[in-house]
Amino acid sequence: MKCIDEENKLAGKVVLVRAGLNTPLHNGKVINDFRVRKALPTLQFLRAQGAKVIVIAHIGRHGSESLAGVAEILNERMPTKFSTRDEIDSSKMTEGEVVLLENLRQDPREVENDDGFARELAALADIFVQDAFSVCHREHASIVGIPRHIDSYAGLLLKAETTVLERVLRPERPALFVLGGSKFATKEPLIRKFIDVYDKIFVGGALQNEFLAARGIAVGRSVIEDGAVPSDLLVSDKMHAVVDVVVEHEDSTKANVPIDRVRHKDTIVDIGENTIASLSSELMRYKTILWNGPLGWYERGYDTATANLARAVVDSGAETIVGGGDTVAVIQKEGLEDRFDFVSTGGGAMLAFLLHKTLPGIEVLK
Ligand code: 3PG
Repeated sequence: MKCIDEENKLAGKVVLVRAGLNTPLHNGKVINDFRVRKALPTLQFLRAQGAKVIVIAHIGRHGSESLAGVAEILNERMPTKFSTRDEIDSSKMTEGEVVLLENLRQDPREVENDDGFARELAALADIFVQDAFSVCHREHASIVGIPRHIDSYAGLLLKAETTVLERVLRPERPALFVLGGSKFATKEPLIRKFIDVYDKIFVGGALQNEFLAARGIAVGRSVIEDGAVPSDLLVSDKMHAVVDVVVEHEDSTKANVPIDRVRHKDTIVDIGENTIASLSSELMRYKTILWNGPLGWYERGYDTATANLARAVVDSGAETIVGGGDTVAVIQKEGLEDRFDFVSTGGGAMLAFLLHKTLPGIEVLK
């Protein structure tokens, strides 16, 4: 994979950059600029080289939203124009100019990975730079299509993400892997992979409900998919035990209870304080801590266990790597973003990279 920072003859060239700018919006305004900040080094590098920079990105899942709010935020950091694909005319661009184009997903051919669409995008520029690590697990036109038609490079963010995540696949040990979120069936391959190379695995979120249910522990009305966690994982001494959970009762009051006290109308909403205290007390022994996914039901506001563990993780002295949109949001809320060694922009992309050691959007650059 060639990285754009190896290239120094970019003055006057039109460079198309696929950035990961899928950020949360409220009334069209960006409410979390994390991914915008992370996109800046590549854009600043290209500007400094005198390239004419056309940025393409998506926002939201279905193409109904606009990148106008993102263009506004980008423009506060460096002069950035906003345009549609029809309006852009690179022959009128000046060296160092940056133009963000409207949401790629407004054209259905993006997610359909339509080759004609990839050709149209490639035709806008002389060189392509892939910097949207957070989208590289998607087989979309701007991810796997464009590099088939034009000289292509990795951007600085993509290079940084893959360098760190490749390294933690062979971590300095002892190493701890913390995995939250849901859907055991999709996470099982990752847990199996990490059980071989990491010393301890801590599972939180709705994923932990499936472990509890498989152990025969009553989980009341908690979110579980099938409870089909195989017994070898249940008895593995590499899995850190959960001894208590936070439950929401039927009347919406909540309580921290031992795992054998969940009543049939209770819903498990977070990992309990004693479990987090015991996990926190042993963090000093790890040289690497890798974490993806919140420990509680984030969408319902249960982020106490995630926040408490995050505070202990940054004080552990280990190399700390964290990713996943909800987890990173909690870390930012706690003011801890700068205290982690690496904060990935990837959610699903980070997990897919950890599992496969590559992604479709990376393979196509090779
Ligand atoms: C993300 O936000 O995780 C990426 O931008 C991918 O978005 P998607 O899940 O809608 O493909």
